[in-house]
Amino acid sequence: MNPQNLLDLMTKRRSVRKYADTTVEKEKLLDLLEAARWAPSAGNKQPLEIIVVDDNDTKNLLVEAALGQKFIADAPYVLVICANVERTSSRYGERGSSLYCLQDTAASIQNILLLTTAHGLSSCWIGAFDEQKVKDVCSIPDFVRPIALIPVAYPASLEEKRAPPRRELKEITFGNAYGKVFMEP
Ligand SMILES: Cc1cc2nc3c(=O)[nH]c(=O)nc-3n(C[C@H](O)[C@H](O)[C@H](O)COP(=O)(O)O)c2cc1C
Repeated sequence: MNPQNLLDLMTKRRSVRKYADTTVEKEKLLDLLEAARWAPSAGNKQPLEIIVVDDNDTKNLLVEAALGQKFIADAPYVLVICANVERTSSRYGERGSSLYCLQDTAASIQNILLLTTAHGLSSCWIGAFDEQKVKDVCSIPDFVRPIALIPVAYPASLEEKRAPPRRELKEITFGNAYGKVFMEP
């Protein structure tokens, strides 16, 4: 793997909110789920669990739970990315439930998003939703927390979206201590 290709993929990934009216191949979907499984995991406790939603009524209920973000229902699949909090807290207590299990699932989400881009698919990390409503819609038990909704679809347009700006490297990196210059401007 050429490192530059991987970096290009990372910079090419965009949050896409307009989807084509096309199905997504099962093999591609399975690839994304496989990618999620291989993210790092604190103590390898693997709290990640995923509900694959392809039922239209359920998708519409997820739209309601996600404060009316209608585009979610336009995707053939919506992945409800969950953390089985108990798996991590059983070993790491409070730090496991409030930090590690979220970090684990976030790493899996990024894996999914990158492979989505590589497959020519599109997606968007949805974090704005009423957690209890998502739990009710998908019958998620108490010890599991829905972390994100990930619509998986083909994009409506093949035109590359303009990247929202990023903070400059020199603004976000420090040398040895917070606030100390690492990169000269
Ligand atoms: C934790 C998290 C929650 C997000 N929630 C939403 C959301 O609810 N709805 C949405 O349209 N985009 C959401 N986004 C996507 C961001 O708006 C997007 O990543 C950001 O604007 C940068 O654009 P890019 O992903 O194209 O680089 C979320 C992203 C993250 C990481």
